[in-house]
Amino acid sequence: MSSIAYVNGVFTPLEDARVSILDRGFLFADGVYEVAAVIDGRLVDNPAHLARLERSLKELQLESPVSMAAIVEIEGALVARNGVREGLVYLQITRGVADRDFSFPKNVTPTLVAFAQKTTILAAPAAETGVKVATVPDLRWARRDIKSIALLAQVLAKQAATEAGCQEAWMVDADGFVTEGSSSTAFIITKAGAIVTRPNSEAILPGCTRRAVMALAAEQGLTVEERPFGVAEAQEAAEAFLTSASNLVLPIVEIDGRPIGAGRPGERAKRLRALYLEFARATAG
Ligand code: PDD
Repeated sequence: MSSIAYVNGVFTPLEDARVSILDRGFLFADGVYEVAAVIDGRLVDNPAHLARLERSLKELQLESPVSMAAIVEIEGALVARNGVREGLVYLQITRGVADRDFSFPKNVTPTLVAFAQKTTILAAPAAETGVKVATVPDLRWARRDIKSIALLAQVLAKQAATEAGCQEAWMVDADGFVTEGSSSTAFIITKAGAIVTRPNSEAILPGCTRRAVMALAAEQGLTVEERPFGVAEAQEAAEAFLTSASNLVLPIVEIDGRPIGAGRPGERAKRLRALYLEFARATAG
């Protein structure tokens, strides 16, 4: 059975889902997006994703064509109509279709598209094996806090990682500090047991999974430090892990060919994954 997508008010088979070549998302990457996980047929931490969507829209003076409540309805309909028990929902809002002109067009309705995908999240093999990371220079613009659909630097980063036999890229700023993964937040755990991640700023996306994992860690009495860290410190760390809506929490076992800790998923990263899963299942809606 073909999957069902949503385009500007219409649910349609994915292969028929179309936008104009004049859509500003296509021409200028003038738009924003969100990705939320689906577990047990319910959306994980979705209020946090919608709050970030509203913030991204506001920063770009973009207006959603429908209310946030209507977006929740659309997401729920995509999950139900596609029979997704485990996977994700992707949604994107662009400034709409207009003659090509860099400045904002007037009287144009933004484009809203969304689709659902079945993926393996809970029993992901990477949770057992851990993932390998390659570091690359961070080539992105200065407003990485906005979840922009302009993802070319992340595409190049992930491709470089793939070619190096790795599953994720960590992007490194001009001062030698890790900003984040190409599509995930970067964490290390020091030998003293502190969980370290870069503070939110315009340099990184404020991860929804990051926020929840930090709160869960603090509840467990674990030390959480928000500060930048470099590649050498990460390679010397006891453990490392990444967080994202699509992968939840995944242990990292290697950075640029150097094993992290024993080169196997660390116990604390595994524990944080289990805690996040519990939270996700208990709060999904
Ligand atoms: N990416 N940093 C970047 C650059 C990201 O693209 C993402 C998510 C994250 C993690 O954010 P969250 O925990 O809210 O998913 C951090 C999504 C999953 C994607 O682009 O597919």
